[in-house]
Amino acid sequence: MTRLNLKHAVARKVLLNALVCAAALMAPVTALADDKSVTYQDQIKPIFDQHCVECHEGWFPKGGLRMDSLENLREGGKNGPSYFAGKPDKGRLINMIKQVPGRFSQMPPGEKSLTEAQYQLIRRWIEQGAR
Ligand code: HEC
Repeated sequence: MTRLNLKHAVARKVLLNALVCAAALMAPVTALADDKSVTYQDQIKPIFDQHCVECHEGWFPKGGLRMDSLENLREGGKNGPSYFAGKPDKGRLINMIKQVPGRFSQMPPGEKSLTEAQYQLIRRWIEQGAR
């Protein structure tokens, strides 16, 4: 009986500690589980702001796609959704920033393409749910 109570006490303490720490641990734990989590606000917006927004904002964004906020991104462009959360190989966004030499529809157009690291980051962002 005492042994059982002791067990319960220990269990309760462990549970309590777990609860107390849960909030603090939540972020790092998910980060580990996701192999570095990528969020729009932290890693993706700076890339889009620098390389895409000049053409993809305002009343007449190129391709009908506004890229100045996550809400606008979710609305997609003239051809519908530009990406599909959880499906990194699907959608125009990821496929248009992929390096294909000589391709006409490369984004951003012209010489100033994204780096492989930026491409991989955006890919991972979509894979993780594009949040
Ligand atoms: C210099 C201007 C310019 C920049 C910078 C630019 N784009 Fe575009 N984008 C365009 C134009 C023009 C179109 C329309 C092409 C068409 O419809 O044939 C377009 C279309 C698109 C579309 C297709 C939308 C749809 O629904 O058809 C996507 C996705 C896209 N761009 C993504 C990006 C991304 C991501 C970046 C930044 C890495 C970027 N663009 C930077 C000019 C630009």
